[in-house]
Amino acid sequence: MSEPKKYKHLPEKFPTREEVKGIDVDKLVNMLLSAFADKILAWYQYYVSGYAVKGHTSTEIEDVFKKIADDELNDHAKLLADRLQNFDVDPPDFRDLWHLSKCRQTELPEDPHDIDGFIIASILAERCALAHYREIFNYVFGKDPITEEIIEDIMKDEAEHETIFRSLLSKEGLKRLEELEKK
Ligand SMILES: [Fe+2]
Ligand SMILES: [Fe+2]
Repeated sequence: MSEPKKYKHLPEKFPTREEVKGIDVDKLVNMLLSAFADKILAWYQYYVSGYAVKGHTSTEIEDVFKKIADDELNDHAKLLADRLQNFDVDPPDFRDLWHLSKCRQTELPEDPHDIDGFIIASILAERCALAHYREIFNYVFGKDPITEEIIEDIMKDEAEHETIFRSLLSKEGLKRLEELEKK
């Protein structure tokens, strides 16, 4: 396996930002790029899930997947891309997304009728996103109030996404999730 290639299009020098104090901007930008990549891949996972699910409750579930996919792309990814622009950084090349991402994608079930399986995969994706944001939040806390606020807002949404997904699980699905949590 070759080394993952590094994202190459960072500016030579980031613009000075008055609101950022006492943190490594290079590290901050890389964290934001990674969170951005997570969002695009989460959007894609939910988009695919919305189309893939089959069964008598699938229309309702499909709408939820598409609605949450839309949040990931048009709300979260956009907020992160806008913040990156403050540092003169453009969204990464599509081919860089996979290695920039921390959460990537959780495994989807092969059986399209396994709706609980698709929902559980989404819950795991939301949890990974939340853990990643907590890391970024801790890094910028008190040092970059703008990123801090953006991350805090997104975290609230992700917690809500997780709640929505959980509420869609069947009784058996909840049991499966609980089994996974024990591991
Ligand atoms: Fe998100
Ligand atoms: Fe989410």
